[in-house]
Formats: sequence, C-alpha cells, structure tokens
Amino acid sequence: MKIQGRREFMIGAGALATAALLPAAARAQSAKIRLGLMLPFTGTFAQLGVAIENGLNLALAENGDRLGGRELEFFRVDDESEPSKATDNANRLITRDKVDVLIGTVHSGVAMGMLRVARENGTLMLIPNAGADAATGPLCSPNVFRTSFSNWQPVHPLGKVMVERGHKKAVFITWKYAAGEESLASFKEGYAKAGGSVVKELFLPFPSVEFQALLTEIAAIKPDAVACFFAGGGAVKLIKDYAAAGLMDKIPLYGSGFLTDGILPAVGKAAEGLLTTLHYAESLDNPKNKAFRAAYEKKFKLNADVYAVQGYDTGLLLVQALEKVKGDIGNRKAVIAAMESAVIDSPRGQWKMSRAHNPIQDIYLRRVENGDNKVIGVAWKALEDPARGCKLG
Ligand code: BEZ
Repeated sequence: MKIQGRREFMIGAGALATAALLPAAARAQSAKIRLGLMLPFTGTFAQLGVAIENGLNLALAENGDRLGGRELEFFRVDDESEPSKATDNANRLITRDKVDVLIGTVHSGVAMGMLRVARENGTLMLIPNAGADAATGPLCSPNVFRTSFSNWQPVHPLGKVMVERGHKKAVFITWKYAAGEESLASFKEGYAKAGGSVVKELFLPFPSVEFQALLTEIAAIKPDAVACFFAGGGAVKLIKDYAAAGLMDKIPLYGSGFLTDGILPAVGKAAEGLLTTLHYAESLDNPKNKAFRAAYEKKFKLNADVYAVQGYDTGLLLVQALEKVKGDIGNRKAVIAAMESAVIDSPRGQWKMSRAHNPIQDIYLRRVENGDNKVIGVAWKALEDPARGCKLG
C-alpha cells in the first residue's frame, strides 16, 4: 500500500483520455478513496497513534488494500495531541487534500476540534479512540461514528468492582482535560450507585507526569483505594512512581484499562496484580482475537493492544460499509445506513453501533498477571453509553 503525505500524481495522456470518456459518476467511482488520518505520532500518545494506524492497515490489507473494490490513497497528519492545532489540521485534510473520510484521533480535546470541522463540512468522520462524551452525546451527528468507546464507558463498572473488594472511599487522580474529567464523572456515578464515595479529586495538567506531590497527598489522606485515568507514557510513569513511593501494597491502585494497556513491557513487575476495566484484553479467548493477534504480530513484530484493535475495527467498519455500497462513498445516505447497521466481528467480541454511533460492547475486568492483562470476568455486558443530549435515532 502506498502512503502519501501529499498528493502526487503522474497520469499518462492515454489514461487521461480514457477517464475523460467516462460519465462523471463512473469517473468518481473509479477514483481512489482518500483516507485522511489525523493521529499523534509524537508525544505522550505517539505509541497509541502508531497502534491505531497499524490496526487500520491490517484490516485494509486483509481486504486487498481496497474498499468496495476501489484503491486507496492516504493523507497523514501528526496531530501531536495538541488541541490548538486540531481545527487547522482537520481543515487542511478536508479542504486541501479533499479526503473522503477523516479518521482520528486519540486525544479527546483534539477530537473535539476535528468534530467541529467535520460537522461544518459534513465530512464522514471515524473516531478510532478519543472518548469525548459529546461526540456521541449532545454533538452526535449523522456523519460521525466512533469505533472505540465513550469516556463514560470503561470506568463506569469500576466503582462496583472496588466496593465489592471493600474499598468504599477512594481518591481519583487524572489529567485535567476532557478524558480525565469525563472518566471521573462516570466513575463517581457508578461508584456512588455501588455505595462508594470519592473523597478527593486530584489533577495534573496534560501531559504532565509530575506525580510526587500528589502521591504524598494520597499517602496522607489514606483512602481505601485510588482510581485513575491515565494512558500511554503517563500511565507508565504513574505505575512506576506509585510503586516507588511504596503505595502499591498499602493503597490499591485501580483504573480504566488504559492504565495497563500497551505499556506492560515498559513497567515490568510494578504493574503485577493491578485491576482495571476495559472493552478489550489481550487474553480474550475467541478465534477472531487469536487470528488478529497472530496476524498483527507477524506484520508489525509487535503485540497488539486495545488501540490496535480500535484501528482494526475502524478498518472493518469501512470494509463492511463500502462493500455494501459497492465503493460509492459519495452516496452518503447509503454509507451512513450501512455503518449504522454494521455488526463488527471484533477481537474484543462482536459489537454494533448505538443510535448515537458509539459501540455497544462488553466491559471486561482484567488483572495484570505475568505481564499480560488477563480477563477475570465481564464487568458489564453490552454496555451502552447513555448518549445524553443526542437527538439521533
Ligand atoms: C482521550 O483523550 O479520549 C483518551 C486518550 C487516551 C486513551 C483513552 C482516551
């Protein structure tokens, strides 16, 4: 597959003449489908961006690097997880590169900028990670689909898990931006329902990893447990610092599964025993997951994580929808209908879209054992985001 940062075409005179003889609709049908990728390839979330792109490429490769029979052309932007650049980057992909589909991103704040542009232009947008609740809540839109999770979903079952283990008073620690704040809000909702209460909320600006002062505060508060949202490089640093501060055995650390996904080789033994909730785990015992993990490892010489799965599922959604419309990506109504009715046979287990265009999916309880996130149960079967404020469906 050819990946281009910019559009560079060399078309021979013969090809041009042949194309000119075709009716406009047929010309559009035979052109390449233009995929615009906006992902972090540098910074705290760089590894997450790479995994998403790898997963997407794997799904497309398994379909002959075509969608609905049409060849593909890629336009990539490193969004640097920088919300202030999101609108310009998305505009460039849509207006200059004329992408048919905008795919991105990891960071909720950046996704909100992309969403604004996609809603204004009506461009088809697929979100392969960012959980920003509004994207499938009050700002839900017919042309916007998410293949990952809402920030509300992964932590919602965590409070019950903690109360069942006798931890009724918790401190929540996270980055101060949409993903952290929305994870906290959802955790509090689920925790209160289960009989727990958050006694202190601690924040760091994104992407700071200066945990020392906050860990000292946690040690002084002595809660039953700590819950958190961190991912990528921030998760690695928190686990290492938490262990180095001697807190692991005294005040159990819990989190949404982003805390331990894709980072276990970097933290080693410090992560052993951590309990998290997430919509994926590498040890899931289903044939699709086994085949996906083997193919991913073979192609990229890497272990697949949740981000790779989300990228893969973005590819599966595109494959399924474009097959249904025979590659006619310009037939917006039919593409949207195909995505709305898609059933994705994912490594995470089968899922389908909610009325707000967000996966309805199982949330697993996982424990880190021997450097792996082992599934120890289903924390919530077929969890659907409440999609508060969404008028679709
Ligand atoms: C977010 O910003 O939505 C996010 C980033 C990393 C992992 C999960 C969510």
